[in-house]
Amino acid sequence: MHREDFPMLKKDIIYFDNGATTLKPQCVIDSVVEYMTNHTSNIHRGDYDAAVITNKLYDNVRNIVSSFVNCDSREVIYTSGATQSLNMVVFGYMKKHLKKGDEVLLNKAEHASNILPWIILSKQIGIVIKYVPLDNNYELTLENIKRCVTFKTKVISLAQITNVIGDVRDVYNIGKFCHENNILFNVDGAQSVPHMRVDFKNCYMDFLSFSGHKMCGPTGVGILVGRYELLEDMDPLCYGGGMNSYFEENGDYELKSIPTRFEAGTTPIAQVIGLGEAIKYLMKIGMDNIHEHEMKLKQYLLDKVKDIPNIIVYNTSSNSGIFAFNIDGVFAQDTSIYLNSYNIYVRAGNHCAKELKDEINIKNTVRVSMYFYNNYNDVDRLVDALRNSKDIFKIVL
Ligand code: ALA
Repeated sequence: MHREDFPMLKKDIIYFDNGATTLKPQCVIDSVVEYMTNHTSNIHRGDYDAAVITNKLYDNVRNIVSSFVNCDSREVIYTSGATQSLNMVVFGYMKKHLKKGDEVLLNKAEHASNILPWIILSKQIGIVIKYVPLDNNYELTLENIKRCVTFKTKVISLAQITNVIGDVRDVYNIGKFCHENNILFNVDGAQSVPHMRVDFKNCYMDFLSFSGHKMCGPTGVGILVGRYELLEDMDPLCYGGGMNSYFEENGDYELKSIPTRFEAGTTPIAQVIGLGEAIKYLMKIGMDNIHEHEMKLKQYLLDKVKDIPNIIVYNTSSNSGIFAFNIDGVFAQDTSIYLNSYNIYVRAGNHCAKELKDEINIKNTVRVSMYFYNNYNDVDRLVDALRNSKDIFKIVL
């Protein structure tokens, strides 16, 4: 779908690394170029014409985000990406509100950004991290979560879709459970928000983090959505211009209202404008259409690889466009280099999910991650390359 919108697809490449970053459509590129060419200016500081245009475009992106994920526009904070958003939750909110012995439930399929900050926090203030075991398909279930909850459980933090197994977590029922049990619900939406309809309010989320560059937007921009009452009691991690009302020699100071107090310094203005354009573009295509298309492609790929010997698939049942595999006896990176010789771009390695190896018993996998602009021809070319892979060492070595 919509392949003609993407300049990079005019080259003869098969782009299957959408979990790492997505291609950019012309309308997003144009919006950034337009800002840089015709109305470059800082925001909330200038009284001249270009600044007025920029302010309007920039501020309106909060409204676009709020209708995209169903939250209040005052709950939308611009960040540099999902990683920064998650760090803000852990060190800006949780550090202030959790205490020694409080339990945080994670699981081993999570990305580094949703484990490492918690590990650091546990060393700083003594919270206890508990890992919810995955099921036989390496997926996270509400039943397993419930088994790990105790009266000390204060937070459940998870990716709505994980970046290697690609299982879609039941955030509605997990969120409802958290809500009913007075547990904070922190959601990493980096791999879900670009690919399916996400509903912050109705899924009882307390925090939701995602990145612009994984959803057709520019790099360097992301979003943290936080429930307003919680944001009122969250500390900024960064102090400086733009986020304070005043400060004095005697140490008196006042911070601006939410969300501005969390956006110190000159923010990624061009990127925010580009992200707004990307979200409008995705909404026009329809998030349900995107998810449905990716599921059809994934099923098509699963059916095709069934009769190729030596392909080990790690996530046959997961309900997203992520396909994690290895060629038996071949190092994942060798497979990725081999596929590059067919102009097929995938990612190989541990994908920053460094504890997943404890569950799937292998460190590195090859990941195909799809988006709406992939098509059946892309999958056919991948399958042909995998069928020919007996020659892999002639090409790689
Ligand atoms: N987090 C990104 C990925 O999974 C970079 O590839």
